[in-house]
Amino acid sequence: MNNEWWQKGTVYQIYPRSFYDTNGDGIGDIRGIIEKLDYLAKLGVDLLWLTPMYVSPQRDNGYDIADYFNIDPQYGTMADFDELLEKAHQRGLKIMMDMVVNHTSYQHHWFQEALKGEDNPYRDYYIWKDPAADGGPPNNWLSKFSGSAWELDAASGQYYLHLYEVGMPDLNWENPKLQEEIYNMMAWWGEKGIDGFRLDVINNISKNPDFPNDSLATAQDDGRKFYVDGPHVHEYLHQMNRHVFDKYGLVTVGEMSSTTPEQCIKYTNPEREELSMAFNFHHMKVDYPGGKKWASAKFQLTDLKRVMTEWQLKMAAGGGWNALFWTNHDQPRALARFANDTVYREQSAKLLAIILFGLQGTTFIYQGEEIAMTDANFTDISQYDDAESRNAYAHLLADGVTAADALQILREKSRENARIPMQWDDTPHHGFTSGEPWLAPIHEDNWTVDKALANPDSIFYTYQHLIALRREHAIFANGDFRLLDAESEVIYDYAREWQNEALVVVGNFSEKEMAWHVPAQYQNKDCAILASNYGRETLENQVTLQPYEALMLHLK
Ligand code: NOJ
Repeated sequence: MNNEWWQKGTVYQIYPRSFYDTNGDGIGDIRGIIEKLDYLAKLGVDLLWLTPMYVSPQRDNGYDIADYFNIDPQYGTMADFDELLEKAHQRGLKIMMDMVVNHTSYQHHWFQEALKGEDNPYRDYYIWKDPAADGGPPNNWLSKFSGSAWELDAASGQYYLHLYEVGMPDLNWENPKLQEEIYNMMAWWGEKGIDGFRLDVINNISKNPDFPNDSLATAQDDGRKFYVDGPHVHEYLHQMNRHVFDKYGLVTVGEMSSTTPEQCIKYTNPEREELSMAFNFHHMKVDYPGGKKWASAKFQLTDLKRVMTEWQLKMAAGGGWNALFWTNHDQPRALARFANDTVYREQSAKLLAIILFGLQGTTFIYQGEEIAMTDANFTDISQYDDAESRNAYAHLLADGVTAADALQILREKSRENARIPMQWDDTPHHGFTSGEPWLAPIHEDNWTVDKALANPDSIFYTYQHLIALRREHAIFANGDFRLLDAESEVIYDYAREWQNEALVVVGNFSEKEMAWHVPAQYQNKDCAILASNYGRETLENQVTLQPYEALMLHLK
């Protein structure tokens, strides 16, 4: 039986930079998180995932770590962090650190040492290769941030690998000394009393030792097949588990890029002693035509259902465990993408919550989802701060896309959409800061935390209710899964059974009224409406679903 606290619990992701600023510098900080702990406790979540706040030059908002043992001054001090940990624990909230060990910042002292030459003891902490025969990069792998994944170090004449931003050199996991340093560093955080790690792009850490060229035939042939779920990754994670996770009782979330259910079963089946759960992105690619992210496209509901269903069924069959989410700091908001963020904004936000929270896995809420925050809708490239978005824009223009079309693509696809500051109240900048916010000084929208808290029918309370339900009923963690209608482009419905109970969840992903009926085998059962975004209290077997209506039924 699945009965771990994190299998029944909900994670709330905080992007500290945009959460709450207490010192007026326009950047959210740790004291801001401390001030909002009561708010988070009221929502009822179990675990707070904090994106990186370690010392960093912030070329990728903290995913470029220069010192694993200290807090970046822009977020506060280690004393602030210790206070956060203590005050969170007092309220029953656990803390999960975001840990990045695929790469460091170029400013990390290991890399600064490595730059000193091939004889330096830290040289082998990173991945260095001689140029190809033509003097160019050692192979044709592409960086996720555009261009080659290799950068020439003029002093030594060798290239270093950076799968991400050029200031983020990849670590060499083949080096046992590096492994030991990382395990010790993680154990240091374990000693401090944190409760878990979210492990950034962890399935990329083991590279194919031959570093072969890729075909570049499709958008996916960028080298990833030579480092995603690489040859030793399971070994490394098992070691990490033995040295750190198990020892400190940590819950772990592996961020898995371009992976498979088969691999994620290996990562998360408890018998293998690797990770607690896998955070995969296949459902985030249903609007990538031909695998291309930077293109304007609408998703098909049948694709979304197919992908979600595959992961529900395969992970359960193999004893793996899913992380469930609609968005995070690397994705646009889900409202406009999968439902509606204008006329049916409130209904859509609740619909997405109800559909997700009925599934098997650990549920995640990204800051602002609980008040139905929308995309940034920037109109000018100068409003974007994110390196990935700016690089993508430049490449689109170079490919002949017009500026207007490129901006539209960013408006749909850029992760910056989810990074605009939290909307707390109606004061200037939504109460996020008394200064000038680091991003989006003008975002006119009057949906705020204050208003959500004052309205008992708000999306905030829908989440609060769903979080409590998942803790209360074992069927959420244990029920099986059956997609009811795979063909409809409008209705998303599924059933789950466990012992003598069933859960039936349905959502109308359209502005039209839709006829739906309770599946025949459940029609004569006792039916409780666990969640409804139209305030339904009773139900006939035949139902006319309203625009973006969702229902969660419990049958016995
Ligand atoms: C995934 C993180 O979530 C993303 O924000 C970051 O840019 C990359 N990993 C590189 O660390």
